[in-house]
Amino acid sequence: MALKLSLPSQSSFPSLGLQRSRPGSARFFMTATLPPKSKEIDSLRKHLSPREVHVQVTHSMPPEKIEIFKSLEDWAEHHILVHLKAVEKSWQPQDFLPDPSSEGFLDEVRELRKRAEEIPDDYFVCLVGDMITEEALPTYQTMLNTLDGVRDETGASPTSWAVWTRAWTAEENRHGDLLNKYLYLSGRVDMRQIEKTIQYLIGSGMDPRTENSPYLGFIYTSFQERATFVSHGNTARHAKDYGDMKLAQICGIIAADERRHETAYTKIVEKLFEIDPDGTVLAFADMMKKKISMPAHLMYDGQDDNLFEHFSSVAQRLGVYTAKDYTDILEFLVNRWNVEKLTGLSGEGQKAQDFVCGLAPRFRRLEERAQSRAKQATTVPFSWIFNREVLL
Ligand SMILES: [Fe+2]
Ligand SMILES: [Fe+2]
Repeated sequence: MALKLSLPSQSSFPSLGLQRSRPGSARFFMTATLPPKSKEIDSLRKHLSPREVHVQVTHSMPPEKIEIFKSLEDWAEHHILVHLKAVEKSWQPQDFLPDPSSEGFLDEVRELRKRAEEIPDDYFVCLVGDMITEEALPTYQTMLNTLDGVRDETGASPTSWAVWTRAWTAEENRHGDLLNKYLYLSGRVDMRQIEKTIQYLIGSGMDPRTENSPYLGFIYTSFQERATFVSHGNTARHAKDYGDMKLAQICGIIAADERRHETAYTKIVEKLFEIDPDGTVLAFADMMKKKISMPAHLMYDGQDDNLFEHFSSVAQRLGVYTAKDYTDILEFLVNRWNVEKLTGLSGEGQKAQDFVCGLAPRFRRLEERAQSRAKQATTVPFSWIFNREVLL
């Protein structure tokens, strides 16, 4: 199996250094004096290029395995496309928002804003982070179309895989749209800063380290759809606690979509386990070793170099998405795919099986230890809420 290695393009850098800003991540910075125009390009690249330094592996799936996905076309037609919802039966953002063409529009907006007044800032930080994550949808469609054997080759390809990806994108598009419009009307957040963050994030892309392999790609999406199901479910629960039933409904309806998408993606991986248990368990172990990076891990607002970490800390403290959720999702997937009961694996496959099955208990022990350590009370300003301070 030949691995092609490629690094982020460095041709425009006369000199490149690495500056460690926190454990596990590093940033590029310039060490040479540049003419003014290059400085501009450098500043663009600084915030729009992959910030984590690791070798980017491409096309790691042996080419002959592409045939597996071609042979699954029919199966996907009958077992995966059924998890899509017809447009005529789908909810639309407008169903949950004040109708601008109605007489009562302004009153409805006033009511929405009144309800939003009861909700604390830290909740809004979580909701904004979730909305920004949803709004970077172009990146996720691109990511799916990097996958060998399932990509949409023309932009309107009739294969089941391509139909799924386009319809999935179209369904997802309503999520960011609904949250964005809600947040705009709420009057609680700095929309311009949020819009800047979205522009930066889409420009940065993401690197989930799926290596153009649909094995890795669909394990990643299975994990991510469940993660978004959990976090939107939690923001719904919190909204209910604050007495905002309409916002709870908004978050809940999005969570339900994520759940349906999770069902489809986990079904694909279940099928891969059936056809190629060895290859699939190796892919699962590989993905977990690399850790599932969150889709918005490169977020930046033009101000805070650790914006994603800060947003994640608030989500953790509020119980919107926590380290425990990460472990729960891993454990859920191990059970969903019956990984413990796989038989007939190669030596390497067995090692991968042991690794994956032993991971959740290991994470739980680490969590316990982390919890017993006293946490310092730190606050940071979030530009999304006019630089008001929020406890991490
Ligand atoms: Fe979504
Ligand atoms: Fe999703």
